[in-house]
Amino acid sequence: MGNVFRRYWMPAALSSELPEPDGAPVRVRLLGEDLIAFRDSDGKVGLVEAFCPHRRAPLFFGRNEHGGLRCVYHGWKFDRTGKCTDLPTEPPDSTYKDKIRLDCYPTWEGGGVVWAYLGPPETMPSPPDFEFIRAAPNHAFMSKSIQDCNYLQALEGGLDSAHAQIMHVPNIGDNSLAWLGDYEQTVPQLTVEKTDYGFSYSGIRAKSGQQWVRIYQYIMPVTQMRGRIAPLRRGDAPPKIPTICGHLWVPMDDVTTAVYNFIYSYDSATPMTPEFAMENEIADGRGPDELLPDFRLKRNMANDYLIDREVQRTRSFTGIAGVNTQDVALQEGMGRILDRSKEHLGSTDRAITTMRQLLLEATHMVEAGQMPRGAHPESYRGVRAVDHLIPEGQDWREALKEELRARF
Ligand code: FES
Ligand SMILES: [Fe+2]
Repeated sequence: MGNVFRRYWMPAALSSELPEPDGAPVRVRLLGEDLIAFRDSDGKVGLVEAFCPHRRAPLFFGRNEHGGLRCVYHGWKFDRTGKCTDLPTEPPDSTYKDKIRLDCYPTWEGGGVVWAYLGPPETMPSPPDFEFIRAAPNHAFMSKSIQDCNYLQALEGGLDSAHAQIMHVPNIGDNSLAWLGDYEQTVPQLTVEKTDYGFSYSGIRAKSGQQWVRIYQYIMPVTQMRGRIAPLRRGDAPPKIPTICGHLWVPMDDVTTAVYNFIYSYDSATPMTPEFAMENEIADGRGPDELLPDFRLKRNMANDYLIDREVQRTRSFTGIAGVNTQDVALQEGMGRILDRSKEHLGSTDRAITTMRQLLLEATHMVEAGQMPRGAHPESYRGVRAVDHLIPEGQDWREALKEELRARF
């Protein structure tokens, strides 16, 4: 699977982690590798191995000076392409410098993210091309959090739309499942359709004489995209800004996942206000008071996510604050790598099983020298998710044809 992931551009850091040229380097752990990212004097991001080729001193402590990163142990200096540009411990006429290289990977910036490609140069696709990258900067917002489990159980949580109506319910008023009576048809009619980029996953529910259509997109290997148009509960006002949001669950290594959370306004006349983006972060459990400087949550496994049993008894289903914190609690609580031989999957797990089939298919394709689905950005650049109420009896494919096409 590591080889599969090395056919895609992957998020390595938020652009905001490297706010200025010649600023402090940051540690990056990606696909099991320890790397260092630094923004050089030209403003371009270098992503290099974390240890100096001389005697393997940590480059995290390096000086990011004019045009490169200098190891502070003996002063060897490298530019963002890994070329050794200064070797002060050798005689001035030495050519040793030309033989020394620092391993590095190509980077590309867009959508508030530094993307990296860790695969063979000959299979490098063109840069990522999601709609959230093309949206105007004042229309989009990106954040990051880190969770301590394998990426797959986090990704599975994101594709498991059935839990949203149960686990994330914030106001049950009692301890029963009675609120589910709000929907005349609680169990959605699910369709999973494989595509060139992964799959499109539709859930249709009858709701007060209308059809509630939610279409999630799975863009291989780790992206989920969903709409947020209809209010989640009867009586709630629709969100002020029509948005599409989602996550990318990026393996730092087998037991640690960096989650990139995007949200953007898909209406060109309605920018995403910083207040709206922050409201969303707070609702998800990543507000300024919840996120530690290392991108981990203050509510974590060590403190049982500060579960409040009284709140659980009387109000929210989990008693845990923060929608995504609830997800993290369940996903991390499964163990760092879940033993799936003990699962018993049901009919609403079809998206999960399809995703697993696609990832396994990708391993075979890469072994056979082919590009896996979704590696070429052309396959997903026009893709959008929707969340819409449409009149009963209408064919949703026809009714939402325009809504399903990216317009930025
Ligand atoms: S270990 Fe880096 S210069 Fe010597
Ligand atoms: Fe969730």
